[in-house]
Amino acid sequence: MKYAKITGWGKYAPAKVLTNFDLEKMVETSNEWILERTGIRERRIAAPEETVATMSVEASRQALNRAGLSPKDLDLIILATSSPDYHLPAAASLVQDMLGASYVPAFDLRAGCTGFLYALAVATQFIATGTYRNILVIGAEIISKFIDWNDRNTCVLFGDAAGAVVLQPSDYPTGVLSFLLGSDGSQADALIAYGGGSKYPFSQEVLDRRMHYIRMDGPRVFKFAVKTMVQSVREIMASSGLLPDEVSLIIPHQANIRIIQAAAKELGIPMEKFYVNLDRYGNTSAASIPVALCEAIEEGRIKDGDNIILVSFGAGLTWGACTVKWGVAEAIPFFVVEPAKALSWVKKAQVAISSLGGNLLLPLYTIKSWGKSFRFRKK
Ligand code: UT7
Repeated sequence: MKYAKITGWGKYAPAKVLTNFDLEKMVETSNEWILERTGIRERRIAAPEETVATMSVEASRQALNRAGLSPKDLDLIILATSSPDYHLPAAASLVQDMLGASYVPAFDLRAGCTGFLYALAVATQFIATGTYRNILVIGAEIISKFIDWNDRNTCVLFGDAAGAVVLQPSDYPTGVLSFLLGSDGSQADALIAYGGGSKYPFSQEVLDRRMHYIRMDGPRVFKFAVKTMVQSVREIMASSGLLPDEVSLIIPHQANIRIIQAAAKELGIPMEKFYVNLDRYGNTSAASIPVALCEAIEEGRIKDGDNIILVSFGAGLTWGACTVKWGVAEAIPFFVVEPAKALSWVKKAQVAISSLGGNLLLPLYTIKSWGKSFRFRKK
C-alpha cells in the first residue's frame, strides 16, 4: 500500500477586500457585532470575470510548481466546490482544459465546506491502491454570487478563495494517514440554497422568492459544528493513536472563531494549537482548509515530522477530519549486530548487508536482525 504525501500546495484569493465597515453601509449590521460574534474583519470578493475555474487554476499552478510537476504529469483532478461555474459541465473539466492537462480525468465533488476533506480522502484511495500517482485536489468557492446581500444572517460570513494540493505516492508513512467522514441529511435544511436545482428549477417564482440564495439556521449549524468538531478530533486522535501533545497543529474549517474556541475548550487543547485566518477571509467554504494550510506553511507553523489534524463541517450537514504527517520521510537501513560465533554466520551477515545495499564488512560480528526504519528530514 502506498501513502499519499502532500508534495505541492497553492492558494488564490481575489484582490477585492470587503470590510465589516463596507458591510455596515449595505445591511443593518456593525463592525462590532461581526467581529464579536464571528471574529471576521474582512473577506475577499471575486471580480465579475473571475470564476471558480479561473481561481482554481491560479492555486493549482502554484501547487504544481511546488511539486515540480507539469499539468501533463497529472493523473486526476478533483475539485471540491458548491459554487461551480455551471451546473453542467463540472468546473474540474474547465480547470483541466485551462491548465493544459490534456485528457486527464476530472470531476467536481460536493460536500459543502467539508468538500476539500472528502476530496482528499477520495484522492488518497487512488494513491493507496496504486491506480493514480499524481493527483490535484482543489477546494474553491465563489460563494459571494450565491449570497443574498440583503440577508445579514449570511452576507457577513462568507468570502471567495481557492486552495490546492498535489498528492503523490510514498512508501513511507507520510502525508494523509487517516480520515473520517460523515453526513446527516436529516439536517439538510439548516444550510441550503433551494432554488435552481431539479426540485425547484429556475422560474420567475424562484427568483421572486429569492430561493436561489443560501439560507442558514446559524445557531443550529453552530451547535452542530462544535459537537462534530469535538467528536471528530477525539475520534481521529484515538484511531491514529495520537495524544493531544503529539499533535502540532489543528487546522479547522474557518467559519467562526467562537466555534473554534468552544471546540478547543471542550477538547482541552490550547487555542495556540488551532490555526486561524478567518479574520482576513471569512468563511470560504471548501477553500478554507487548503488556504489555511498554505498560510500555516508560509508562516512556519508546520515542520517536517509534525502531526497535523484537518477538521471540517458544512452543508449536508457533513463533517470530516484527517491526520497528516508532514514532510518527506527517508528510509534508514538498520542492523543489530552481535559477536560472531562462527565464520558461516559472518558470511550470512555480509550477504544480508549487501542485499540492503550496504557494503560494511564486519569480520568479528554477525547480524542479529535488520530492517528499514524511517525518519523525517529536518530542514
Ligand atoms: O461553513 C458552515 C457555515 N456556517 C456556519 O458556520 C455558521 C454557524 N453559525 C454562526 O456562526 C452563528 O450562529 C452566526 C454568526 C451566524 C450568528 O451568531 P449568533 O450568535 O448565533 O446570533 P443569532 O443568530 O442567535 O442572532 C443574535 C441576534 C439576533 O437579534 P435578536 O433576535 O436577538 O434581536 C439577530 O437578528 O443578532 C442578530 N443578528 C445580527 N445583528 C447584527 C444576526 N446577524 C446579525 C448581523 N449584524 N450580521
